[in-house]
Amino acid sequence: MKYYITTPIYYPNSSPHIGTAYTTIAADAMARLRRMKGDEVFFLTGTDENAQKIVRTAEAAGLDPQTYVDGIVEKFKELWRLLDISNDDFIRTTEERHAKVVQQIFTRLYEQGDIYKSEYEGWYCTPCETFWTKNKLVDGRCPNPDCGREVELLKEESYFFRLSKYEQKLLEYIQENPDFIQPASRRNEMVRFIENGLEDLCVSRTTFNWGIKVPFDPKHVVYVWLDALINYISALGYPDGENYEKFWPADVHLIGKDILRFHTIIWPIILMALGIPLPKKVYGHGWFLSREGGKISKSRGNVQDSFELIRRYGSDPIRYFLLREMQAGMDGTYSEDDLVEKLNSDLANDLGNFVSRTLAMIVKYNDGKIPVPGPDTELEAELKNLSSTVGKTVEQKMLDCDPAAALEAIWQFVSQCNKYVDTTAPWNLAKDPAQRERLNTVLYTFAESIRILGIFCAPFMPGVPKKLQPLLGGRDYFRYWDDATRWNVLEPGTVVQKGEPIFPRVDLSQFTEQVQLSEQQDKQSVPEAQPSEAAQMPPLKEEISIDEFAKLDLRVVKVLKAEKVEKTDKLLKLEVEMGGETRTVVSGIAQHYKPEELIGKKVILVANLKPAKLRGILSQGMILAASDQEQLEVLTITKDIPTGAQVK
Ligand code: MSP
Repeated sequence: MKYYITTPIYYPNSSPHIGTAYTTIAADAMARLRRMKGDEVFFLTGTDENAQKIVRTAEAAGLDPQTYVDGIVEKFKELWRLLDISNDDFIRTTEERHAKVVQQIFTRLYEQGDIYKSEYEGWYCTPCETFWTKNKLVDGRCPNPDCGREVELLKEESYFFRLSKYEQKLLEYIQENPDFIQPASRRNEMVRFIENGLEDLCVSRTTFNWGIKVPFDPKHVVYVWLDALINYISALGYPDGENYEKFWPADVHLIGKDILRFHTIIWPIILMALGIPLPKKVYGHGWFLSREGGKISKSRGNVQDSFELIRRYGSDPIRYFLLREMQAGMDGTYSEDDLVEKLNSDLANDLGNFVSRTLAMIVKYNDGKIPVPGPDTELEAELKNLSSTVGKTVEQKMLDCDPAAALEAIWQFVSQCNKYVDTTAPWNLAKDPAQRERLNTVLYTFAESIRILGIFCAPFMPGVPKKLQPLLGGRDYFRYWDDATRWNVLEPGTVVQKGEPIFPRVDLSQFTEQVQLSEQQDKQSVPEAQPSEAAQMPPLKEEISIDEFAKLDLRVVKVLKAEKVEKTDKLLKLEVEMGGETRTVVSGIAQHYKPEELIGKKVILVANLKPAKLRGILSQGMILAASDQEQLEVLTITKDIPTGAQVK
C-alpha cells in the first residue's frame, strides 16, 4: 500500500510556533504509523514563500525577500529536526522545480479557457492573502473573524480563474465522496459556502514582482494561493515524475480549519480543470488557543519560543501534549502549565513509573533476567486482548486523523498495565517459593508490556523506543506495528536494565524562575557512576548566597479545607490560612494524603511564589514536602506557632 500525506506549506514570514507545529507533528505521527504498518509513505511539508506579506516583512527587516526567507526556512527545518519530523521531502515554492510546474499549469489553464484576462477591482487582505468583494467586508475590514485587519483597494489588470464553471461539478463531487472533506461538520460549512455561489478568482498581480511570473505575460505574478496549492503535485514531479505516478492522489491533506476553503474549492477545481484525480481526504483540524481564548499566533503576540520549549521538556512531551489535547473537530487549549501537568501525570507517572517499577522488579526478583513464563491466567489474557483492540483502534483513529483518540486508547492500555501490577502484587508472590512460576509469568508479562508500549508510543513519541531499547536488552523490537499485538516475542534470559526514569518529573515554577541556573547545572552535572545509595540522590544545586536565600518567603499556614481536583489523580486543592488571609494552593500530593488527613495541620508555604494556574485553578504558593521516588511527607509544625510566622 502507498500513503501520501501532506501538511500545509507554511509562510516563512516568522518563526514556527506551537500552533504551526501541531499539523506537522500530527502528520508525522500518521506517516510513522503507516510506515510501521509496512506502507510505502511519502510525507511532504515545506514553505510558501511567494506571498506579498513576505515582501513586506522582509522590507521591514531591511532585507531582500530571498535572504529573509532563506533565514526563516532554516528555522523551520531545524524545528522539524528537533521535533523528530520524518518528512520525505521539503518543498520551497521559490525552487525552480516548483515554479516550472506552476507556469506550465497556468499556461495550460489559460490555453483551455479556464483562465482569462480582465480587470480586478476589489479588496485584498495581505495578512490573509485573500481577495474580498466590498459586500463581504465587515466595517470595511477583513471579514475573517480571526483577522479583522485593514484591507487594501486594488484596481489592476488581472487574470481570472473560472471557478464558477465548476461549481456544480464540485458540489456533486462533495456529495458523492463524503470522506473528501473531514470532519463532517466542516463539510457542511463548505457546501453552504459553495451553494451561495462561486465567483471567478483573481489569480495574478501586477503591483509587485515577488513571485512566479506568468510565462506569457511576465508583468504578472501568479496569485500566491494558486501557486502554493500546486506544491502538492510539483513536489512529486508532476506531470510525469515517478513519485507523481506512484503517490498521487494524496491520501490526506492535513490542514487547519482556516485554510479549508482554499483546499476544498480552489484546489479541487484546479485539479478538475487539469483532469486529474482529487485528493482522497482534506482534514481541517481546529486551532490551538491560548488560555485567554485567542488563537495562538505570531500576530497576537501569544506565542512561546518553540526552541526554548524543546530545551525545557524535549520533543516527546510536546508531541504528546499537542496530539492529546486537540480533540477531533474542536479547538485545543495550549498552556505551559497544562503541558507540564500532562507530562508529570501521563508520561512520568502513568507510563514512566510502570516501566521503572516493573524493570526494578525483574532486577530484584530474577537478577534482571526475563524469566521463562508459566501458563497464563485470565489476567494475562485480558491484557493480551486489550493490546489487540488498542492496536486496531489506533490504526483506525489515525486513518481518521484523530491522534487524540488514538492516544486515549493507548493510555487505556497503560492504565490496564498499572492495574495488572497492583492486582498480581509480585512483591507477595516473591515471598512464597510455591508461587515462583506465577511470579515468572508476571515478570515476563511486564517485559512484554513494555515492549508493546514502546511500539504503541513509537509513531507519537519516537524517542520512547530509543529509550526502551537499551533497557530491554538492546534489540530493536519497535519497528513493526503488528508486533504490538503479538505476544511472547522477548526471549527468556534476556537481561534488562532498570535505567533512569524515561520521563523525569518536571516542576514548572523551578523552570520559569531558575531557567539560567538550571541551564548552568545541566552543563555541569555530568552523571558519573557512583555507589548505589548516593546514585539515588539528585545532584546538589549550585551554591547560593544568603541574600538569595532571603528572597524566599516561607510562612506557617494552617490547612482549612482540602479536596481532590476533579479529573486528576495527583492534585489536591487546599485552602490555607496565613495571618488572617486565606489562600488557595494546588499541591501534587493526592497520592500520599487523603484530603481529611491534612485539615487542621500547620504546614509551610512558599508564600512569595508567583501564582500559577493548575487545571484552571490559581495556585497561590507551594507547600513544602520531602520526597523520594516512592514516599512523600508534607513538612508540618507541631508547636503552637501562629500562622503567618516566618520560616527562616
Ligand atoms: N501558506 C498557507 C498554507 C498554504 S498550503 C498550500 C498558510 N500558512 S500559515 O503558515 O499561515 O499556516 C499554516 C497552517 O498552520 C494552517 O493550517 C493553520 O491553520 C496552522 N496554524 C497556525 N496557527 C495555528 C494554531 N494556533 N493552531 C493550530 N494550527 C494553526 O496558511
